[in-house]
Amino acid sequence: GGEEELAVRPPVVTVMGHVDHGKTKLLDAIRNANVVAGEAGGITQHIGAYQVQTEVDGEDRKITFIDTPGHEAFTAMRARGADTTDLVVLVVAADDGVKPQTTEAIDHATAAGVPIVVAVNKIDKEGADPQRVRAQLTEYGLVAEEYGGQTLFVDVSAKQGINLDGLLEAIVLTADAELDLKANPDMDAQGVAIEAHLDRGRGAVATVLVQRGTLRVGDSIVCGVAHGRVRAMLDENYKPVEEAGPSRPVQVLGLTAVPSAGDNFLVVEDDRVARQIADKRTARKRNAELLRARPSGSLEEIM
Ligand code: GTP
Ligand code: NA
Ligand code: MG
Repeated sequence: GGEEELAVRPPVVTVMGHVDHGKTKLLDAIRNANVVAGEAGGITQHIGAYQVQTEVDGEDRKITFIDTPGHEAFTAMRARGADTTDLVVLVVAADDGVKPQTTEAIDHATAAGVPIVVAVNKIDKEGADPQRVRAQLTEYGLVAEEYGGQTLFVDVSAKQGINLDGLLEAIVLTADAELDLKANPDMDAQGVAIEAHLDRGRGAVATVLVQRGTLRVGDSIVCGVAHGRVRAMLDENYKPVEEAGPSRPVQVLGLTAVPSAGDNFLVVEDDRVARQIADKRTARKRNAELLRARPSGSLEEIM
Protein backbone atom coordinates (compact mmCIF):
# COMPACT_ATOMS: atom_id res chain seq x y z
CA GLY A 1 0.00 0.00 0.00
CA GLY A 2 0.97 3.62 0.46
CA GLU A 3 0.81 4.42 -3.22
CA GLU A 4 -1.91 6.79 -4.26
CA GLU A 5 -4.39 5.03 -6.51
CA LEU A 6 -5.44 7.50 -9.16
CA ALA A 7 -8.63 7.00 -11.13
CA VAL A 8 -9.86 8.76 -14.24
CA ARG A 9 -12.25 11.60 -13.43
CA PRO A 10 -14.67 13.47 -15.72
CA PRO A 11 -13.65 16.82 -17.21
CA VAL A 12 -15.07 19.95 -15.58
CA VAL A 13 -16.28 22.38 -18.23
CA THR A 14 -17.10 26.09 -18.18
CA VAL A 15 -19.08 27.70 -21.01
CA MET A 16 -17.94 31.14 -22.09
CA GLY A 17 -18.67 33.53 -24.93
CA HIS A 18 -20.07 36.87 -25.99
CA VAL A 19 -23.32 38.21 -24.56
CA ASP A 20 -26.42 36.62 -26.07
CA HIS A 21 -24.50 34.05 -28.08
CA GLY A 22 -26.43 31.32 -26.28
CA LYS A 23 -24.42 30.15 -23.25
CA THR A 24 -27.43 29.73 -20.99
CA LYS A 25 -29.57 28.19 -23.69
CA LEU A 26 -26.83 25.71 -24.52
CA LEU A 27 -26.31 24.72 -20.87
CA ASP A 28 -30.05 24.24 -20.47
CA ALA A 29 -30.35 22.23 -23.68
CA ILE A 30 -27.49 19.89 -22.72
CA ARG A 31 -28.86 19.46 -19.25
CA ASN A 32 -32.40 18.73 -20.37
CA ALA A 33 -31.20 16.25 -22.97
CA ASN A 34 -28.56 14.45 -20.96
CA VAL A 35 -28.79 14.75 -17.20
CA VAL A 36 -28.78 11.13 -16.09
CA ALA A 37 -32.36 10.21 -16.68
CA GLY A 38 -34.86 8.75 -14.29
CA GLU A 39 -36.11 11.79 -12.49
CA ALA A 40 -39.88 11.98 -12.52
CA GLY A 41 -41.06 14.73 -14.79
CA GLY A 42 -37.51 15.79 -15.46
CA ILE A 43 -37.68 18.45 -12.79
CA THR A 44 -34.17 19.69 -12.38
CA GLN A 45 -32.80 22.33 -10.14
CA HIS A 46 -30.10 24.85 -10.96
CA ILE A 47 -27.52 24.04 -8.36
CA GLY A 48 -24.62 25.80 -10.07
CA ALA A 49 -23.20 22.71 -11.73
CA TYR A 50 -24.40 19.46 -13.19
CA GLN A 51 -23.08 16.23 -14.60
CA VAL A 52 -24.17 14.52 -17.81
CA GLN A 53 -23.45 11.14 -19.26
CA THR A 54 -22.73 10.50 -22.91
CA GLU A 55 -21.51 7.60 -25.00
CA VAL A 56 -18.23 7.95 -26.86
CA ASP A 57 -16.82 4.97 -28.81
CA GLY A 58 -19.24 2.66 -27.04
CA GLU A 59 -18.14 3.82 -23.60
CA ASP A 60 -20.19 5.74 -21.06
CA ARG A 61 -18.44 8.98 -20.25
CA LYS A 62 -19.34 11.76 -17.85
CA ILE A 63 -18.87 15.50 -18.16
CA THR A 64 -19.36 18.09 -15.41
CA PHE A 65 -20.65 21.50 -16.44
CA ILE A 66 -20.30 24.55 -14.25
CA ASP A 67 -23.71 26.10 -14.73
CA THR A 68 -22.71 29.67 -13.94
CA PRO A 69 -21.35 30.80 -17.27
CA GLY A 70 -19.38 33.91 -17.95
CA HIS A 71 -15.76 34.71 -17.50
CA GLU A 72 -16.40 36.94 -14.50
CA ALA A 73 -17.21 33.88 -12.44
CA PHE A 74 -14.31 32.02 -14.02
CA THR A 75 -11.75 34.73 -13.32
CA ALA A 76 -13.17 35.46 -9.85
CA MET A 77 -12.68 31.81 -8.94
CA ARG A 78 -9.18 31.75 -10.40
CA ALA A 79 -8.25 34.94 -8.57
CA ARG A 80 -9.13 33.11 -5.38
CA GLY A 81 -6.90 30.23 -6.33
CA ALA A 82 -9.70 27.88 -7.29
CA ASP A 83 -8.84 26.30 -10.60
CA THR A 84 -12.04 24.43 -11.17
CA THR A 85 -12.18 24.34 -14.94
CA ASP A 86 -10.44 21.72 -17.07
CA LEU A 87 -11.85 22.78 -20.42
CA VAL A 88 -13.70 25.77 -21.87
CA VAL A 89 -16.55 25.58 -24.36
CA LEU A 90 -16.42 28.81 -26.33
CA VAL A 91 -19.86 29.68 -27.68
CA VAL A 92 -19.90 31.79 -30.83
CA ALA A 93 -23.17 32.68 -32.55
CA ALA A 94 -22.86 31.75 -36.22
CA ASP A 95 -24.87 34.79 -37.32
CA ASP A 96 -22.88 37.26 -35.24
CA GLY A 97 -19.33 35.92 -35.36
CA VAL A 98 -16.37 36.79 -33.16
CA LYS A 99 -17.03 39.68 -30.75
CA PRO A 100 -15.06 41.38 -27.97
CA GLN A 101 -16.12 38.97 -25.23
CA THR A 102 -15.31 36.03 -27.51
CA THR A 103 -11.67 37.08 -27.63
CA GLU A 104 -11.67 37.94 -23.91
CA ALA A 105 -12.84 34.42 -23.19
CA ILE A 106 -10.01 33.05 -25.33
CA ASP A 107 -7.54 35.17 -23.35
CA HIS A 108 -8.88 33.87 -20.04
CA ALA A 109 -8.79 30.25 -21.15
CA THR A 110 -5.28 30.67 -22.55
CA ALA A 111 -4.07 32.33 -19.34
CA ALA A 112 -5.45 29.39 -17.40
CA GLY A 113 -3.82 26.91 -19.78
CA VAL A 114 -7.18 25.32 -20.48
CA PRO A 115 -8.07 23.78 -23.88
CA ILE A 116 -11.00 25.17 -25.84
CA VAL A 117 -13.77 23.47 -27.80
CA VAL A 118 -15.70 25.88 -30.02
CA ALA A 119 -19.48 25.55 -30.15
CA VAL A 120 -20.66 27.42 -33.23
CA ASN A 121 -24.22 28.11 -32.12
CA LYS A 122 -27.45 29.30 -33.75
CA ILE A 123 -26.81 27.41 -36.98
CA ASP A 124 -30.60 27.30 -37.41
CA LYS A 125 -30.68 31.03 -38.02
CA GLU A 126 -30.84 32.70 -41.34
CA GLY A 127 -27.50 34.32 -42.04
CA ALA A 128 -25.64 31.75 -39.97
CA ASP A 129 -22.14 31.36 -41.35
CA PRO A 130 -20.19 28.74 -39.38
CA GLN A 131 -17.25 28.82 -41.80
CA ARG A 132 -16.80 32.53 -41.21
CA VAL A 133 -16.49 31.82 -37.47
CA ARG A 134 -13.75 29.29 -38.21
CA ALA A 135 -11.94 31.80 -40.44
CA GLN A 136 -12.23 34.56 -37.83
CA LEU A 137 -10.93 32.42 -35.00
CA THR A 138 -7.77 31.37 -36.84
CA GLU A 139 -6.56 34.91 -36.12
CA TYR A 140 -6.74 34.08 -32.43
CA GLY A 141 -4.86 30.82 -32.70
CA LEU A 142 -7.89 28.56 -32.81
CA VAL A 143 -7.53 26.61 -36.05
CA ALA A 144 -10.17 24.02 -36.80
CA GLU A 145 -9.07 20.43 -37.20
CA GLU A 146 -10.47 20.32 -40.73
CA TYR A 147 -8.13 23.21 -41.58
CA GLY A 148 -5.09 21.42 -40.19
CA GLY A 149 -5.38 22.81 -36.67
CA GLN A 150 -5.87 21.31 -33.23
CA THR A 151 -9.22 22.76 -32.19
CA LEU A 152 -12.53 20.97 -32.47
CA PHE A 153 -15.35 23.15 -33.80
CA VAL A 154 -18.89 21.82 -33.48
CA ASP A 155 -21.87 23.40 -35.22
CA VAL A 156 -24.90 23.37 -32.92
CA SER A 157 -28.28 24.88 -32.32
CA ALA A 158 -29.07 25.20 -28.64
CA LYS A 159 -32.57 26.26 -29.55
CA GLN A 160 -33.36 23.27 -31.75
CA GLY A 161 -31.14 20.82 -29.92
CA ILE A 162 -29.03 20.12 -33.00
CA ASN A 163 -25.76 18.22 -32.57
CA LEU A 164 -25.49 18.50 -28.80
CA ASP A 165 -24.11 14.94 -28.70
CA GLY A 166 -21.46 16.02 -31.18
CA LEU A 167 -20.42 18.75 -28.78
CA LEU A 168 -20.24 16.33 -25.84
CA GLU A 169 -18.15 13.96 -27.92
CA ALA A 170 -15.76 16.78 -28.88
CA ILE A 171 -15.37 17.65 -25.19
CA VAL A 172 -14.49 14.07 -24.28
CA LEU A 173 -12.09 13.69 -27.23
CA THR A 174 -10.34 16.97 -26.43
CA ALA A 175 -10.05 16.04 -22.76
CA ASP A 176 -8.59 12.64 -23.69
CA ALA A 177 -6.13 14.17 -26.15
CA GLU A 178 -4.94 17.14 -24.11
CA LEU A 179 -5.57 16.43 -20.45
CA ASP A 180 -4.64 13.72 -18.00
CA LEU A 181 -7.56 13.87 -15.64
CA LYS A 182 -7.00 11.68 -12.64
CA ALA A 183 -7.75 11.91 -8.96
CA ASN A 184 -7.62 9.68 -5.92
CA PRO A 185 -11.18 8.77 -4.91
CA ASP A 186 -10.04 6.94 -1.75
CA MET A 187 -9.21 9.81 0.54
CA ASP A 188 -11.01 12.47 2.55
CA ALA A 189 -12.66 14.81 0.10
CA GLN A 190 -11.29 18.18 -0.99
CA GLY A 191 -12.80 20.59 -3.45
CA VAL A 192 -14.31 23.98 -3.97
CA ALA A 193 -17.61 25.80 -3.39
CA ILE A 194 -19.27 26.77 -6.67
CA GLU A 195 -22.10 28.76 -5.16
CA ALA A 196 -23.96 29.03 -1.88
CA HIS A 197 -26.99 30.67 -0.38
CA LEU A 198 -29.09 30.77 2.75
CA ASP A 199 -32.33 28.83 2.43
CA ARG A 200 -35.12 29.67 4.83
CA GLY A 201 -35.97 26.10 5.65
CA ARG A 202 -32.71 24.30 5.06
CA GLY A 203 -30.12 26.80 6.29
CA ALA A 204 -26.85 27.22 4.44
CA VAL A 205 -26.92 25.42 1.11
CA ALA A 206 -23.65 25.11 -0.80
CA THR A 207 -22.95 23.53 -4.15
CA VAL A 208 -19.48 22.07 -3.97
CA LEU A 209 -17.35 20.42 -6.59
CA VAL A 210 -15.41 17.45 -5.24
CA GLN A 211 -11.91 17.55 -6.73
CA ARG A 212 -10.17 14.73 -4.85
CA GLY A 213 -11.41 11.99 -2.58
CA THR A 214 -15.00 11.09 -1.83
CA LEU A 215 -17.39 13.24 0.16
CA ARG A 216 -19.92 11.40 2.32
CA VAL A 217 -22.96 12.24 4.38
CA GLY A 218 -21.78 12.57 7.97
CA ASP A 219 -18.35 13.98 7.04
CA SER A 220 -17.15 17.03 8.95
CA ILE A 221 -16.01 19.75 6.61
CA VAL A 222 -14.50 23.20 6.63
CA CYS A 223 -15.35 25.46 3.71
CA GLY A 224 -13.83 28.92 3.90
CA VAL A 225 -14.97 30.19 7.29
CA ALA A 226 -17.97 27.87 7.33
CA HIS A 227 -17.94 24.42 8.87
CA GLY A 228 -20.32 21.65 9.80
CA ARG A 229 -21.28 18.03 9.35
CA VAL A 230 -22.74 17.08 6.01
CA ARG A 231 -26.38 16.45 6.91
CA ALA A 232 -27.52 15.60 3.40
CA MET A 233 -26.32 15.88 -0.18
CA LEU A 234 -28.46 16.42 -3.27
CA ASP A 235 -27.66 16.03 -6.92
CA GLU A 236 -28.83 18.22 -9.82
CA ASN A 237 -32.08 16.23 -9.91
CA TYR A 238 -32.62 17.11 -6.30
CA LYS A 239 -32.14 13.51 -5.33
CA PRO A 240 -30.36 12.57 -2.12
CA VAL A 241 -26.92 11.07 -2.66
CA GLU A 242 -24.77 9.33 -0.05
CA GLU A 243 -21.39 10.02 -1.60
CA ALA A 244 -19.72 12.08 -4.29
CA GLY A 245 -16.37 11.31 -5.92
CA PRO A 246 -13.95 13.42 -8.00
CA SER A 247 -15.53 15.94 -10.45
CA ARG A 248 -18.96 15.40 -8.93
CA PRO A 249 -20.95 18.52 -8.01
CA VAL A 250 -23.39 18.21 -5.10
CA GLN A 251 -25.47 20.44 -2.92
CA VAL A 252 -24.39 20.16 0.67
CA LEU A 253 -26.63 20.82 3.66
CA GLY A 254 -25.38 21.20 7.21
CA LEU A 255 -22.92 24.07 7.10
CA THR A 256 -23.16 26.63 9.90
CA ALA A 257 -22.56 29.58 7.57
CA VAL A 258 -22.73 30.41 3.89
CA PRO A 259 -19.35 30.02 2.16
CA SER A 260 -18.26 32.13 -0.81
CA ALA A 261 -17.90 30.90 -4.36
CA GLY A 262 -14.30 29.81 -4.79
CA ASP A 263 -13.80 28.79 -1.15
CA ASN A 264 -11.97 25.51 -0.87
CA PHE A 265 -13.41 22.81 1.34
CA LEU A 266 -11.86 19.83 3.02
CA VAL A 267 -12.99 16.98 5.20
CA VAL A 268 -11.44 16.87 8.66
CA GLU A 269 -11.46 14.41 11.55
CA ASP A 270 -14.53 15.68 13.35
CA ASP A 271 -16.61 18.78 13.83
CA ARG A 272 -14.51 20.01 16.74
CA VAL A 273 -11.49 20.23 14.47
CA ALA A 274 -13.65 21.76 11.76
CA ARG A 275 -14.80 24.49 14.12
CA GLN A 276 -11.26 25.22 15.30
CA ILE A 277 -10.06 25.72 11.75
CA ALA A 278 -13.10 27.81 10.84
CA ASP A 279 -12.67 29.99 13.95
CA LYS A 280 -9.01 30.57 13.15
CA ARG A 281 -9.89 31.57 9.63
CA THR A 282 -12.63 33.89 10.86
CA ALA A 283 -10.18 35.63 13.19
CA ARG A 284 -7.59 35.93 10.43
CA LYS A 285 -10.18 37.33 8.05
CA ARG A 286 -11.33 39.87 10.64
CA ASN A 287 -7.77 41.02 11.22
CA ALA A 288 -7.20 41.39 7.51
CA GLU A 289 -10.37 43.44 7.20
CA LEU A 290 -9.33 45.68 10.10
CA LEU A 291 -5.95 46.14 8.51
CA ARG A 292 -7.57 47.18 5.25
CA ALA A 293 -9.96 49.54 6.98
CA ARG A 294 -7.13 51.29 8.83
CA PRO A 295 -4.19 51.34 6.48
CA SER A 296 -2.34 53.87 8.64
CA GLY A 297 -2.84 51.93 11.86
CA SER A 298 0.01 49.81 13.11
CA LEU A 299 -0.31 46.07 13.13
CA GLU A 300 0.18 45.83 16.93
CA GLU A 301 -2.68 48.23 17.47
CA ILE A 302 -4.99 45.96 15.54
CA MET A 303 -3.79 42.56 16.68
P1 GTP B 1 -25.88 36.33 -21.60
O1 GTP B 1 -25.93 35.41 -20.41
O2 GTP B 1 -26.80 37.49 -21.47
O3 GTP B 1 -24.49 36.73 -21.97
O4 GTP B 1 -26.47 35.53 -22.87
P2 GTP B 1 -26.25 34.01 -23.24
O5 GTP B 1 -24.97 33.84 -23.95
O6 GTP B 1 -26.48 33.16 -22.05
O7 GTP B 1 -27.40 33.79 -24.32
P3 GTP B 1 -28.84 33.14 -24.09
O8 GTP B 1 -28.73 31.68 -23.87
O9 GTP B 1 -29.55 33.95 -23.09
O10 GTP B 1 -29.44 33.35 -25.54
C1 GTP B 1 -29.61 34.64 -26.06
C2 GTP B 1 -30.74 34.61 -27.06
O11 GTP B 1 -30.39 33.79 -28.17
C3 GTP B 1 -32.03 34.03 -26.50
O12 GTP B 1 -33.11 34.74 -27.04
C4 GTP B 1 -32.02 32.61 -27.01
O13 GTP B 1 -33.30 32.05 -27.15
C5 GTP B 1 -31.34 32.77 -28.35
N1 GTP B 1 -30.65 31.56 -28.79
C6 GTP B 1 -29.75 30.85 -28.08
N2 GTP B 1 -29.34 29.79 -28.79
C7 GTP B 1 -29.99 29.84 -29.98
C8 GTP B 1 -29.97 29.02 -31.13
O14 GTP B 1 -29.30 28.00 -31.24
N3 GTP B 1 -30.77 29.43 -32.17
C9 GTP B 1 -31.53 30.54 -32.11
N4 GTP B 1 -32.26 30.84 -33.17
N5 GTP B 1 -31.58 31.31 -31.03
C10 GTP B 1 -30.81 30.98 -29.97
NA1 NA C 1 -28.81 36.73 -22.82
MG1 MG D 1 -26.75 33.70 -20.02
